[in-house]
Amino acid sequence: MKNFTCAIPTVVHFGQGQIQKLGGEIAARSRKVLVVYGGGSVKRNGVFDAAAAQLNEHGIQWAELPGVEPNPRVATVREGVRLCREQGLDGVLALGGGSVIDCAKAVAAGFYYDGDPWDLSGKKLTPERALPIFTVLTMAATGSEMDDIAVISNPETNEKESFSGPCCYPAVSILDPTYTYSLPASQTAAGTADIMSHTFENYFSPIETSYLADSLAEAILRSCVKYGPKAIETPNDYEARANLMWNAAWAINGFLNMGKPVAWSVHRMEHELSAFYDVTHGVGLAILTPNWMRYVLNERTEARFARYGAEVWGLDPARPARELAEAAIQKTRDFFVSLGLPASLSELGIGPEYFPEMARKARNSGFDRTFVPLSAEDIVNIYQMSL
Ligand code: NZQ
Ligand code: ZN
Repeated sequence: MKNFTCAIPTVVHFGQGQIQKLGGEIAARSRKVLVVYGGGSVKRNGVFDAAAAQLNEHGIQWAELPGVEPNPRVATVREGVRLCREQGLDGVLALGGGSVIDCAKAVAAGFYYDGDPWDLSGKKLTPERALPIFTVLTMAATGSEMDDIAVISNPETNEKESFSGPCCYPAVSILDPTYTYSLPASQTAAGTADIMSHTFENYFSPIETSYLADSLAEAILRSCVKYGPKAIETPNDYEARANLMWNAAWAINGFLNMGKPVAWSVHRMEHELSAFYDVTHGVGLAILTPNWMRYVLNERTEARFARYGAEVWGLDPARPARELAEAAIQKTRDFFVSLGLPASLSELGIGPEYFPEMARKARNSGFDRTFVPLSAEDIVNIYQMSL
C-alpha cells in the first residue's frame, strides 16, 4: 500500500429530517449566503422551502443564484461570484445535484480568485481559499457533497475541466434520501452508473494493494446492482434511496484510492463527450465503460476482471479467468441497459467527426498511469466501438 493522508473534513448529517440541522450549522460559520440551485426541481419537491425555513429561523440572510445548468457553465459561476462580492455574502449553500454543488464550489473559490473563475478549471489551479460551502443533496451520483472536486463547462471552447483543493470540501452536507424521491428514472439510472464508474476507476488501478479499499469497492458495486433497479421501480423506497446516497459519497470521497494510484480513464473520455455534446455525465459513462473494459482486457488485466465477476456478479470463480472476465463485462453492459440507459453513442445522435480532437484533449490530461495506458489512437478506437 502506498503512503497517504486521510482528511475528509465534511460534516455529513444523513437521514430523513436532518435538514433541521442546516440553520445551526450555517449560523456557526456565515451570516449571509448565496443559495444556488438548478432548473427548479428544489422549488417543486419542497427542498427550497425547507432550507429557506432554516435560514429564516436562524436569522441568516440570503441572495439567490437560480438556473444552474446540468454540466454547469462558467458564465453562471461568474454571475455567482459577482453576486457574492456585490452583496457581501460570506457563504454558499447548494440545493441540488452535482452540477449545483460544483457551481457552488467554483463560486466559493472564485470569490477569492483575482481573475476569471474559468482559470481555476482551465489552468487546473488549486485554490487556497473558498467561502464556506454547504450542500443539501437531491441526487445520488457525483459524490460532490463529500469531495473537493468541481467540474465546470465552457461551451464557448468545448471544454469541461475540473479543479480541486482542500478548501473546496463542503463544510456541511445534508443527505436526506427522501429528497431524491422526485428524481426521474432516467437520472436515477445515470446517477447509479456514475457511482459505479467512480468505483471502477478506483478498483481497476495499476496497483492492487489495498485489500480494504478493493473489498469496499466491491460492496459499493453490489449495493448499486441491488438498489439501482429498486429505486427506479419504486422511487420512494427509502432503503434503496438511502443506500444509493451513501454509496455515492463513498465512491469518490477518497477512501477507495487511499494507498493506490488513481486511474480515471473513462471519466476523461466522458468529459470530452459532455464538452462537445453536453450529454448527461452518467449516460456517457454507461456507454463507454463496457467498451473500455473490453478494450483493456488482456493477459495482465484478466485476473482483475475475473475477480470483479466473481465478487460483484456472483459468477463461478472456478471458470477460466478470461471467460469469467468477458462474462463480467457483458453483465455490466446488460445491467446498464436494464436500467434504461443507452448502449451506443449513435442513440444520442453522436457521430465520429470529433473523435480525434476529443481523444487528443482527453489524452492531454494524462493516460500514462492509468490501469492500462492508452494512446490517442486507443481512445479513438474506444469511441468507435461505442458508436
Ligand atoms: O436543475 P434541477 O432542477 O436541479 O434538476 C436536476 C437536473 O435536471 C435534476 N434533479 C436533481 N435532483 C432532483 C432532480 N429532479 C427531480 N428531483 C430531484 N431530487 O437532475 C438533473 C441532473 O442534475 P445534475 O446535478 O446535473 O446531475 P449530477 O448530480 O449527475 O451532476 C452532474 C455534474 O457533476 C459532474 C458531472 O461532470 C456533471 O457536470 N461531476 C462532478 C464530480 C465531482 N464534483 O466530484 C465528479 C463526477 O465524476 C462528475 O464529473
Ligand atoms: Zn462521475
